[in-house]
Amino acid sequence: MIITGGGTGIGRATALRFAGKGERVLVVGRTAAALDEAAEGHDNIRTLVADITAPGAGEEVVEAALREFGRIDVLVNNAGTGTFAPLAKLDRAATERQYATNVIAPTFLAQAALDALEETGGTIVNVSSAGSLGIQAFPDNSVYWSTKSALNHLTRTWAVELAPRGIRVVSVAPGVTDTGIGERIGMSAEQYREFLGQLAGQIPLGRVASPDDVAWWITTLSDPEGRYMTGAIVPVDGGLSLT
Ligand SMILES: NC(=O)c1ccc[n+]([C@@H]2O[C@H](COP(=O)([O-])OP(=O)(O)OC[C@H]3O[C@@H](n4cnc5c(N)ncnc54)[C@H](OP(=O)(O)O)[C@@H]3O)[C@@H](O)[C@H]2O)c1
Repeated sequence: MIITGGGTGIGRATALRFAGKGERVLVVGRTAAALDEAAEGHDNIRTLVADITAPGAGEEVVEAALREFGRIDVLVNNAGTGTFAPLAKLDRAATERQYATNVIAPTFLAQAALDALEETGGTIVNVSSAGSLGIQAFPDNSVYWSTKSALNHLTRTWAVELAPRGIRVVSVAPGVTDTGIGERIGMSAEQYREFLGQLAGQIPLGRVASPDDVAWWITTLSDPEGRYMTGAIVPVDGGLSLT
């Protein structure tokens, strides 16, 4: 298993779930300390410090997984980044970083992993966002959600392209998940708490997700017994996208 962004949040919860099932997991990210924390106490979690947007990173990650485990059953394209800004204030570097992280890096990591995934009849799970499911607009966040819509479209297209090679591709589309991501994209801790509190009231299931709520779906959808599903975009959002 490969999980990008496996040092924190949804990625870490997914790594722990896979490891708990006895799977061997490579967690990838730029911050060694976060990866080490995720791996602590788990012999079957290995770490790789890498920036997935760097040229050649896809090959580097795949080589590391094959070196550690000799096979790749699941690739979870989970690492992602977002920056809030209205069109008038978009910053070119921040825009390019979001596309590089959320769209281009998963694409070339998936490309690098194809032969290994074909050998195992493996699965690619792209972590998108429930905000990118329909025709809803989110003012001041056009770039982030456009990257996630693009990722969902990659899922559908790769599912059809890769079915003859025995590789499944799905998206898990989380709703609001309490991972601390708000603080990492510029909110204060107080603003993030307030944001989560306000949203909880609008969610049919009455609360925001925990990272493990999302991780369960990632590990379940990538289970080989789920072999007849491909190309699906699965919202894990407590019903929010229906309101
Ligand atoms: N939390 C939510 O409410 C929510 C809702 C919908 C969708 N999502 C999506 O779910 C995924 C996980 O988000 P999260 O909430 O768990 O946030 P998070 O904890 O901030 O996770 C993002 C991870 O990606 C890694 N990462 C970012 N850029 C990278 C790069 N260039 N190279 C390697 N690793 C990189 C980060 O590690 P380093 O910084 O150490 O590299 C971090 O571990 C993201 O794709 C996010 O868009 C989250």
